[in-house]
Amino acid sequence: MLISLNRRLVPESQAAVSVFDHGFLYGDGIYETLRVREGEAFRCKEHLRRLAESARGIALTLPWSDTELAHAIHRVIRANRLTRGQAMVRMTVSRGPGPIGLDPALCRRPTLVLIARRYRPQPKVFYERGVSVILATTRRNAPQALSPRIKSTNFLNNILAKIEAKRAHTFDAVLLSLQGFIAEGTTSNVFIVRRGVLETPALKTGILAGVTRNEVLQLARALRIPTREVRLRPRALFHAEECFLTSTLLDILPVTRVNGRRIGTGRPGPITHRLIHAFPTVL
Ligand code: PDD
Repeated sequence: MLISLNRRLVPESQAAVSVFDHGFLYGDGIYETLRVREGEAFRCKEHLRRLAESARGIALTLPWSDTELAHAIHRVIRANRLTRGQAMVRMTVSRGPGPIGLDPALCRRPTLVLIARRYRPQPKVFYERGVSVILATTRRNAPQALSPRIKSTNFLNNILAKIEAKRAHTFDAVLLSLQGFIAEGTTSNVFIVRRGVLETPALKTGILAGVTRNEVLQLARALRIPTREVRLRPRALFHAEECFLTSTLLDILPVTRVNGRRIGTGRPGPITHRLIHAFPTVL
């Protein structure tokens, strides 16, 4: 596998970053995950826009233009012969190497790493039957502490929620905001259907503005499915008719159990099915 390291293609075995990189020392970095189909990065503009927003959010000046980044993405896809079928690219930008100390000014140049590999979908049965989730006891970072709009490489509290999910033998955990509203999955956004309305936590709940979330909302509107971005209490999830998670890597994944309790009929519901079938990257 060839890795794009600071826009140079290097073999995986030589793709190393400094132990002084502040991404490693402090989790000081941002990232994006993109899907690739037949060699084309999907919604590349949206991901680059969000990367730029994340960079602004941590006062990091990206030394590359969007054109240069898009070019580097295409190069790493081609270099790894991923121009047929589905692939993914993980794009990481860290503060870069510098002396120990929190001050970002200690780092002269950010590090850019692009990893491209074949896309490995979740098992089909997950989409057919739905997955289980728990409500994590770990809360989503408060927006006042760390803006959820920053897609940061600093993922510890989501990792703690993932550990809870693994201990409970569920696919994932849904995190609540500090105020107790449903926020999002560990790396996904959450949707429910209540009384035929597609509802998802409003951005002001303190969640990442998912590219897939946005796409699903637009798609639902085009299909004349009523939508609402609201503050959702956990009981809304327990009493939902349908539920699903969205992300670049999952697309639309039905959720049929929460904390061991059935959601709706316990099967993926009709609105979820309609959206899955209409969704552009569905497997
Ligand atoms: N994660 N919420 C969080 C906390 C996420 O990390 C992600 C994406 C999403 C969904 O966003 P999008 O639809 O733009 O992928 C929501 C990516 C997939 C990842 O961690 O690799």
